[in-house]
Amino acid sequence: MTDKITILDFARMKSDGRKIVMVTAYDATFAGIFDEAGVDMLLVGDSLGMVVLGLPDTLSVTMEDMVRHTGAAARGRKRAFLVADMPFMSYQASVPEAVRNAGRLLQAGAEAVKLEGGRSMEAAIRAIASCDIPIMGHIGLTPQSVHRMGGYRVQGRSEGQAARLIDDALAVQDAGAFAVVLEGMPAGLAAEVTERLSIPTIGIGAGAGCDGQVLVMHDMLGLFDAFRPKFVKRFGELKNPVRDAVSAYSDAVRTGAFPDEEHSF
Ligand code: KIV
Repeated sequence: MTDKITILDFARMKSDGRKIVMVTAYDATFAGIFDEAGVDMLLVGDSLGMVVLGLPDTLSVTMEDMVRHTGAAARGRKRAFLVADMPFMSYQASVPEAVRNAGRLLQAGAEAVKLEGGRSMEAAIRAIASCDIPIMGHIGLTPQSVHRMGGYRVQGRSEGQAARLIDDALAVQDAGAFAVVLEGMPAGLAAEVTERLSIPTIGIGAGAGCDGQVLVMHDMLGLFDAFRPKFVKRFGELKNPVRDAVSAYSDAVRTGAFPDEEHSF
């Protein structure tokens, strides 16, 4: 598929049983590379708080951060569908504020927004969708709720929790979301949610039964090792090659080997 990916493709991919590939990107350079690699969806995740801004969690990521990085990623990609995260406190306090902030992310270049929460976020999801802003849900382990969850813990392990997550998924779908991220839940539960929903599910730490998968780019490329959840598979080990290249550059500058004649005017 070489045409621009649109929201219409994801429903088709679910019904055809074709897996949806999503990865995070926070700037134009990486968005361009991932686009060339053929990913379907790029996510400007609020995970940028940790992997780009060096913050301890996602809670202090601002709308300004998200708008800036969404614009950058949008300018770098051509074909992939671009989703931007709504940061903490950009949608919880009131529905009108949620709609306005979702609109800002679209104006920055996103084609859809994502927010965390199920049944409790129904009104915000419905209002955003009714303004023709495509919206993706995110349930299960929701990092913005880290303090309520008592840490980054797998959700839905008990029968009661599992039933609540199924209800959350149905609420997100009924409110008008076009897809939903299922994070940090048992594979069997994610497979059941995927079966029961007509919209696609995108899993992260939720097993193979989802309609697609998403990973944080720094995790999958081996660039971030402050912590490494069990679900992260490294498809590259880029930290050492990057460090070695910069260290070779440092040696060359210090010994006078760079710049040589070839790299001088
Ligand atoms: O912020 C993020 O990167 C995310 C993914 C982990 C789904 O929300």
